[in-house]
Amino acid sequence: MKAPVLLAYDSPLEMRNDIEIAAPATGEVKIKVVASGVCHSDLSVLNGTIPLPTPIVLGHEGAGIVEEVGEGVTSLRPGDHVVLSFVPACGECYACKRGQAYICEKAAAQGAGGLLDGTTRLTSEGAPLHQMACLGTFGPYAIVPEISTVKIPDEVPLDIAALIGCGVLTGVGAALNTANIEPGDTVAVIGCGGVGLNVIQGARIAGATTIIAVDMVDSKLEMAKEFGATHAINASQGDPVAQVMAINARGVDVSFEVIGLQATMEQAINMARSGGEVVLVGVPRMDVFLNLNAAFTFLYLAKTIKGCWYGSSNVNEDVPKLLELWRNGDLKLKELISKEIDNEHVNEAFEDMKAGTVARSVILHSH
Ligand code: APR
Ligand code: ZN
Ligand code: ZN
Repeated sequence: MKAPVLLAYDSPLEMRNDIEIAAPATGEVKIKVVASGVCHSDLSVLNGTIPLPTPIVLGHEGAGIVEEVGEGVTSLRPGDHVVLSFVPACGECYACKRGQAYICEKAAAQGAGGLLDGTTRLTSEGAPLHQMACLGTFGPYAIVPEISTVKIPDEVPLDIAALIGCGVLTGVGAALNTANIEPGDTVAVIGCGGVGLNVIQGARIAGATTIIAVDMVDSKLEMAKEFGATHAINASQGDPVAQVMAINARGVDVSFEVIGLQATMEQAINMARSGGEVVLVGVPRMDVFLNLNAAFTFLYLAKTIKGCWYGSSNVNEDVPKLLELWRNGDLKLKELISKEIDNEHVNEAFEDMKAGTVARSVILHSH
């Protein structure tokens, strides 16, 4: 198999043509990956923000077709179409049983860069290759845990299904699951990339009537308006908190940070009204700490800060719900795709992402 591999942090991915893929073990399935989004979290592994072991096949936002099933797999058979979930959902652990599959205890295995038993099914040049998020969707095939898949109807195009696997579940979920948006609310979304645009459309679906998009790139702000933003603020043209207060002096009912920077996280905290909610979605570096100002002020203002992992999603329930919203025309999916590429061009997709010129580049694999 041929796939781009991250050999060391801060270096471009390198194509390997000799990757060997083992058969699926018990509870695993082999997926013919049809499409994979290129998400900022892939870049965050590349630059060490998310410190996974190398060498590694990146890619955690994918969809494909089941090719082969390992022993004990009961929910899938070859030919089934699936969205890949970047968090496994076992349905049996403490978190899953409490409706918090997004923090399924089986996900602890992911830090080691292997599948659930800690080992990987890929080798190249005689050495094991890790798999991001138990997946590795930048390769045209992947062995993944059965519990990292959600079966979908065959008629759903797999390029848009791929986006559901991270950006849509995370962004729309942040608005519909993590936050408590009431109809008529005012919200602000800082960062209008592939994930932030989904927070915006989620806020629209939740009934927010004032949706303030904040970004530094005008083309992103234009897209934000297409996804439901009613106001756009360019953060490079003055303090975004002051610009939000100029629109709504009280501050917003719910603010979302969808980048992962200390400065913008603190802006999100400061632009929420007293009694409001702050939802932190963007993944920061491990050495980022937040300044909450005086402790008295923080509690007196009675704000709630919520960490949001994977849009607080229960993938088995939320993927069908998102597809229903898409079928009804409430959820834009195709519109998120700025570029379709093959997996030889993923380094260019990272450059586009850094330049802010794309919402999502999507890899369409050839097999
Ligand atoms: N102020 C405002 N906007 C900014 C700033 C800033 N200081 N810095 C960057 N941005 C904007 C960029 O212009 C871009 O539109 O934030 C957006 C980030 O978008 P992407 O790079 O497409 O990232 P995305 O894939 O949406 O992921 C965002 O969510 O899942 C996590 O790991 C992911 O932390 C990342 C975040
Ligand atoms: Zn992602
Ligand atoms: Zn679980």
